[in-house]
Amino acid sequence: MIDLRSDTVTKPCEKMRAYMLQASVGDDSYREDESVNYLQNYCKDLFQVEDALFVTSGMMANRLAFMSQTNPGDEVITEYSYHVNFFDSAPMSAIAGVVMNPRHSLDGILRPSDIEQALYSKQRYNYFAQPKLISIENTINGWAGKIFPFETLQSLHILAKEKKLSLHLDGARLFNAHIAKGIGLHEYAQYADTVSVCFSKGLGAPYGSILMGTRETIDKARRYRIWLGGGVHQTGIQAAAACYALKNNLHRLKQDHQLAQYFAKFLLEIPEISLNANTVETNMVQFRLQSIQNSDDFLDRCTKQGLLLFPWIPGIIRHIVTHKYL
Ligand SMILES: Cc1ncc(COP(=O)(O)O)c(C=O)c1O
Repeated sequence: MIDLRSDTVTKPCEKMRAYMLQASVGDDSYREDESVNYLQNYCKDLFQVEDALFVTSGMMANRLAFMSQTNPGDEVITEYSYHVNFFDSAPMSAIAGVVMNPRHSLDGILRPSDIEQALYSKQRYNYFAQPKLISIENTINGWAGKIFPFETLQSLHILAKEKKLSLHLDGARLFNAHIAKGIGLHEYAQYADTVSVCFSKGLGAPYGSILMGTRETIDKARRYRIWLGGGVHQTGIQAAAACYALKNNLHRLKQDHQLAQYFAKFLLEIPEISLNANTVETNMVQFRLQSIQNSDDFLDRCTKQGLLLFPWIPGIIRHIVTHKYL
């Protein structure tokens, strides 16, 4: 089977497994896991941030970013399609206790004008939810891996400071944006209060994300990580895989991007498929079926031919997501 449902389906290669085996471990709750400490320090240097915390998943990183920068009842302004809202709003409200104020933009980009509108979209009596955090995403999963414009990040940073809001960057696929645009990871981090990145997407590690920010924020996140049951003890084995992925698989993301372009080119030749090739910016291709009403039939037919795809919403087949294959 060719599995293009997601870049989370990769499996660790032999060399990654060997690297994991030799990891030196300790109890991370005492901060004694050398491999975890090494990864966190490596990311601190790479992103030029004060502190970094290795966590189980992208969702945990986002949850901790929210919990450490808000109080229950506070409001988070985001875009409707971003993962923190589209997939994760129920646990965000149930666990982080926040109220989402999602904006519907026409192109998936959350701009300063959207924030201004959100701020003034309702009365702000003191018993109302008080806006505390802006949450953006790069690359944007729901918009087929679109790259969040760097200049918009910079202007959001200025506005956030002015309005005394924190800014979280969900960078589950920030590495893809970095490789596609050549903008330094530390440059992205400079304009956000917290940044999370995933090792288990295009980089091909089996596990883990890292949340970065100031020492004060990450101290809070470390406390909440335990609350969420995420205090994994000898997790250096997983940290080693993340480290291997970071050192060896970052630059090969370019191949994923080229492959996505290649797919798009061929899909354009199929009359039943409509697709805007200009929307292919990183490792995803999203297309619409023109004449096949039932996208499930199409998916079944693809599966029978040995191709696994994931449905997005009816009529739209979720992106083809290119990724590392062993
Ligand atoms: C933008 C974004 N954020 C967060 C996540 C959640 O990551 P995880 O599956 O590691 O919890 C995903 C997953 O695809 C994602 O696309």
